[in-house]
Amino acid sequence: MLSTKLHTAINDQINAELWSAYLYLSMSMDAEAKGLKGVANWFYVQWLEEQDHARILMNYLNSRDAKVTLKPIEPVQTEWGTVLDMFNKTLEHEKVVTSLINNLAAIAAEDKDFASSNMLVWFINEQVEEEESAREMIFAVESVEGNKYGMYQLDKELATRVYTQASPLAASAE
Ligand code: FEO
Repeated sequence: MLSTKLHTAINDQINAELWSAYLYLSMSMDAEAKGLKGVANWFYVQWLEEQDHARILMNYLNSRDAKVTLKPIEPVQTEWGTVLDMFNKTLEHEKVVTSLINNLAAIAAEDKDFASSNMLVWFINEQVEEEESAREMIFAVESVEGNKYGMYQLDKELATRVYTQASPLAASAE
């Protein structure tokens, strides 16, 4: 059985993942409004991935006979000055998420809840990727700063990003 502390913290993380999804959907819509379809696509894929993260945690609580209690999603920013602002915010936000995941892992270790520790390994690795991809995007956008044609090309490249279902969900669908 999950400890109350871990159950509550995982439940809170579901809310945090859904808030992340909403944040990235908001960035996607702002990019659409600015005519940047590729940037909008990049953040739309991000919104789908964040929903996967919430789903993995919901599936996990359900599998441990621990009820999922959905909470309200707090409002998100709806407009950004530049594309660089969006990706800087993405990196800043993902660093916060990394600390939340680390905190969950610390509680699971304290509880000697090995199943939870094992489940969280995927999230620990995912956060390394999330921060790395945000840093890569900051570098890419900085590289074309002030160059309209460069931004046009980068936007076209970002339009090719495709969503892939998170592996824990793909595995459970087999
Ligand atoms: Fe769910 Fe972007 O971490």
